[in-house]
Amino acid sequence: MGPGDLDKALCDLPLIPNPNVIRGVASLDDAGVYKLTDELAIIQTIDFFTPVVDDPYTFGQIAAANALSDVYAMGGKPLTAMNVVCFPTKSLDISVLKDILRGGLDKMREAGVALVGGHSIDDTELKYGLSVTGTVHPNRLVTNAGAKAGDKLILTKPLGTGIISTAVKAKMADEETAAKVAKCMATLNDKASELMSEVGAHACTDVTGFGLLGHTVQLAQNSQVGINIYIASTPFFPEAGEFAKRGLCPAGLHRNREFYATAVRIASEVPSHMQDILFDPQTSGGLLICLAARKAELLLNKLRQVGVGDVAIIGEVVSEPRGVVTVISQKKA
Ligand code: CO
Ligand code: CO
Ligand code: CO
Repeated sequence: MGPGDLDKALCDLPLIPNPNVIRGVASLDDAGVYKLTDELAIIQTIDFFTPVVDDPYTFGQIAAANALSDVYAMGGKPLTAMNVVCFPTKSLDISVLKDILRGGLDKMREAGVALVGGHSIDDTELKYGLSVTGTVHPNRLVTNAGAKAGDKLILTKPLGTGIISTAVKAKMADEETAAKVAKCMATLNDKASELMSEVGAHACTDVTGFGLLGHTVQLAQNSQVGINIYIASTPFFPEAGEFAKRGLCPAGLHRNREFYATAVRIASEVPSHMQDILFDPQTSGGLLICLAARKAELLLNKLRQVGVGDVAIIGEVVSEPRGVVTVISQKKA
C-alpha cells in the first residue's frame, strides 16, 4: 500500500456536492475550507501521530506545531484546537501524557489559539495531535492549485528531519543534532504564513509525510503545471546527508520514492543521498510557497528579517511537462 492509498479510499466515497465547500476531500489540499459568508471561510484540519522524539513535552510541541501548520499553509489564522489523544494507560505513567499536553498547550499559546476540548482513548500505542479550526477571507485563501508558470518556489525550513529522527532512534545522532532538529520541527509556520499573505502568493502547501517531492508533485498536479527543483539551492541539514550516505533511511522514504516515481524526473547528476533527502518524510516541515518571480526576493528578505533563517528559493514553475517535477543540480544558464 502506498502513502496515497488511504487518501484514495477517502476520495472514493460518494461525496455530496456542496457549493460552500471551497476545498474538500477531493481537493487533496492541506485542509478543508468551508465558506460561511462572502467575507469569511472556516479552515478545518486534523493531524496526530506516534512520538517522533523521546521527550514528551517536546513531542507535544512538535505535534501541535505540525497540526497548526495546515491552517498556515492555506493562508489562514488558527483560532481553536482540540486535543486528540491515544494513550497506553497500562504501560505509561500519566505524567507522560501531562507533559505532552503541556507542550501542545504552550504551542497553542504561542499561536494565539484557544484549546476548546478534545478526546482521548486508551490505546496500545501512544498518539497525540490536534484538530484545528481557523479562518480566512475566501479571496485570500492560498490553495495548492494556483501555481503559475514563471513562479518561484520558496521553502521555509531545511529538509532531512525524518532521516535524522531515524538516526536519533538508532542512537546514532549526537544530542546537539537531535536538539537542533527537534527545535526546527517545533517551530510554528505562523510568520511564514503571515508574510506570504502580506506579499501575495499563488499557491502553498506544507512539506510533511510525502517529502518535498511528494508534496511538490501534488502542487504540480493540482495546478496543472510542471515544477523544476534545483538541489544546489535546497536547504537541508548536513547531518541528514551524512546519515543518508550511510544508508540510514526511514521506511516512509522508500514508500514515497516508489509512489511518486512516475511523476518525478531526477537528473543523473543528482547524488543518491540528495535524492533520499528530497523523498524524506518530514514532520512539521516548512511551507512551500509559489509566488510571482518579482516578489520572491522581497518575501525572502522579509522572512529573514523575522528570523526564518534557513529559507531559500529552491525552484520554479514551468508550463510543461504538466504534473511532473524535474530535479536538477542547478538552473541552466
Ligand atoms: Co499539509
Ligand atoms: Co496535515
Ligand atoms: Co469524546
